[in-house]
Amino acid sequence: MKPVKVGICGLGTVGSGTFNVLKRNAEEIARRAGRGIEVAQIAQRRPNPQCDTGSTPITADVLAVADNPEIDIVVELIGGYTLARELVLRAIANGKHVVTANKALIAVHGNEIFAKAREQGVIVAFEASVAGGIPVIKALREGLAANRINWVAGIINGTGNFILSEMREKGRTFPDVLAEAQALGYAEADPTFDVEGIDAAHKLTILASIAFGIPLQFDKAYTEGITRLTTADVGYAEALGYRIKHLGVARSTAQGIELRVHPTLIPADRLIANVNGVMNAVMVNGDAVGSTLFYGAGAGQEPTASAVVADLVDVVRAMTSDPENRVPHLAFQPDALSDHPVLSIEACESAYYLRIQAKDHPGVLAQVASILSARGINIESIMQKEAEEHDGLVPMILLTHRVTERHMVEAITALEALDDVVGDVVRIRVEHLN
Ligand code: HSE
Repeated sequence: MKPVKVGICGLGTVGSGTFNVLKRNAEEIARRAGRGIEVAQIAQRRPNPQCDTGSTPITADVLAVADNPEIDIVVELIGGYTLARELVLRAIANGKHVVTANKALIAVHGNEIFAKAREQGVIVAFEASVAGGIPVIKALREGLAANRINWVAGIINGTGNFILSEMREKGRTFPDVLAEAQALGYAEADPTFDVEGIDAAHKLTILASIAFGIPLQFDKAYTEGITRLTTADVGYAEALGYRIKHLGVARSTAQGIELRVHPTLIPADRLIANVNGVMNAVMVNGDAVGSTLFYGAGAGQEPTASAVVADLVDVVRAMTSDPENRVPHLAFQPDALSDHPVLSIEACESAYYLRIQAKDHPGVLAQVASILSARGINIESIMQKEAEEHDGLVPMILLTHRVTERHMVEAITALEALDDVVGDVVRIRVEHLN
């Protein structure tokens, strides 16, 4: 059988990894796919010395790949929203299947892209868009198809996890670790996407759609970054038996879907709390299966290429099948998507870590407890440290039971208004993931 012809658009970190893996494992891949997979064209803006493309035809124009009648599958690895969207829509309009690693594109324009793909009877595969080399989309969409999914929680940004791990383990500074993540090719072109949680929110948006059968709704995701975390809080969390991770949480509740990315205290004995460096991990809790954990490299050249090439194999296997009988892009049949709303952060519920800087006066603790209890907030534990020598203030650290964010915000406003409380109250959400 003739090989399937692929056009790779973008020969950066992931593009060159994809080319190299396809070449190195060509025989093994053909045995799996049932046909060879041949890179018939590459679109690249500048040469990549990491990649010996041999005699493969090269163009500087990505749209030429979408228009090339020889190409069966367009691999979009250019990133961004604008040209990538144009490229993908053009490839679909030309009847080509698409494989992409672009989480921003899928999270923001996925509803439109999948609708067009259905009209044309083509596949848009996007395993590499979430958690790098971990086949979590396939697991959630197919392996867990029996379940009503209760929640998904994941460390889904390798750069952020690398920064938090290095800061905690080696006391390195934020900019120093970020620079290394950029040099290693983990970070986004705009690294604020990593550290402010936007990249994780893109991925969480995709996971939530597949988990709960809802349309992609990136604009409703709540995002809070890791830039304001202090080593003091990392240390107090540790003393209380927790690790701070930048977690994406999607939870189905009777009122709606929680969709939130923020620093989170996780009990240190949970497996996911021990996921360090650039590694990612996604927990999925389903009513039949219980909790599952998917772990692996969340970024990097060949781990991400692994997911791109797996998608290529999937597309090659399915491209001759009846489009009606393929696995739906978002796991649920398109006419069966749910309109269960995504909740605002004020309506979400979690436990909390609070750090209050208080004057060393009698009765402060009683005032704090009274403010919390008046709002139905149950205190789980309190740790009070010695007064700091430089300012005489006492750090008071509290863990609370679960409470709606709205009530916690009200309580924090009341706490900050106390005469004996100095500065802002630090609050970090806590998830026990049990
Ligand atoms: N910047 C992303 C990360 C790359 O660090 O996880 C993989 O999506």
